[in-house]
Amino acid sequence: MTFTSPTRPIMHACASASSGGVICPLPAAHQPVLLDEVVDALTPHDGGVYVDGTFGAGGYSHAILESADCTVWAIDRDPDAIAAGAAMAEEFDGRLGLITGCFGDMDGLLAERGVTQVDGVTFDLGVSSMQLDQPERGFSFRYNGPLDMRMEGAHGDRPSAADVVNHMREKELADIIYQFGGERRSRQVAKAIVEARGESPITRTFQLADIVRSVVGKSRDGLDPATRTFQALRIHVNDEIGELGRGLAAAETILSPGGVLAAVSFHSLEDRLVKDFLKQRSGASPRPSRHRPETTDPSLSPSFTIPSKGVIQPGKEEIKANPRARSGRLRSAIRTGEPAWDTAPESNPGAPSP
Ligand SMILES: C[S@@+](CC[C@H](N)C(=O)[O-])C[C@H]1O[C@@H](n2cnc3c(N)ncnc32)[C@H](O)[C@@H]1O
Repeated sequence: MTFTSPTRPIMHACASASSGGVICPLPAAHQPVLLDEVVDALTPHDGGVYVDGTFGAGGYSHAILESADCTVWAIDRDPDAIAAGAAMAEEFDGRLGLITGCFGDMDGLLAERGVTQVDGVTFDLGVSSMQLDQPERGFSFRYNGPLDMRMEGAHGDRPSAADVVNHMREKELADIIYQFGGERRSRQVAKAIVEARGESPITRTFQLADIVRSVVGKSRDGLDPATRTFQALRIHVNDEIGELGRGLAAAETILSPGGVLAAVSFHSLEDRLVKDFLKQRSGASPRPSRHRPETTDPSLSPSFTIPSKGVIQPGKEEIKANPRARSGRLRSAIRTGEPAWDTAPESNPGAPSP
């Protein structure tokens, strides 16, 4: 597979009724971030079994399958991503298994398929270019579409971004926009949303972007004022921080001794969660929580060791070729033979409210 993704989406005329025949983008292929580094960390071997918890366009899965005669179980909560992986599954002739679901449920999803131990687990967190560049998914303020943002698609049973902005209390909205988006004017944004929805329901991405832009000015770096609010809503709608906590704990359960966890995150909250989890599980921070006394309980012996490299970031070349890579952070760790801990990682590192 070649990743010839243009940095800008290809435009074409949409014929669908929902788009009204307007110009809209063809989703660009997703360019995997820190791909070589992730494969290096996993060091796939012949006969090994690996989990790609965030299949997307399959860049990680493809590289793992090419690097050894191994098996990959690829999970994605987006049914479109899994459907598009059928050709790759055929290419690798029985070595790629595709699963629609959340990586937080990975242990159960794999157990249903008779898999209880694996040699590596990787996560490439966030959304794919295909999701961002499809107006009807409602992730981006760059295109006008329904305000949806559910990774499972519009038929998922969780509330959409439109449900959130039209029904959530102002204070809670402000908290989410601040905590998950880092928006300093979160209170003003939440107030503007509540005022606007009093006039008419907020159902389109452009509508929300305009509301945000009415109270947040352009930053010096040229970032669209809507960026932080859209990011915050996406993280909330998909419970991305909660999912990551469950995914880390599930990986700890199914990794065999010597197995590798490799997680690439793009948001400081995610990176902090991965870092704290690994610090705790490797024994670098002695207590699982301040409510739990220090203990020599063998069930709390280090379940991971951290290689000396620590965090890995993309180099200049990669950032130049793929600007989305710039905030990527890879953390990896090696599973020990000790039992998995019975405590869930802190899934909400608790940023103060605005
Ligand atoms: C950044 S993309 C992954 C790109 C992939 N590494 C590649 O090379 O094409 C993230 C993907 O993970 C999926 N995803 C995000 N959170 C998930 C979760 N909790 N469980 C399963 N899939 C998830 C998204 O639907 C999206 O397709």
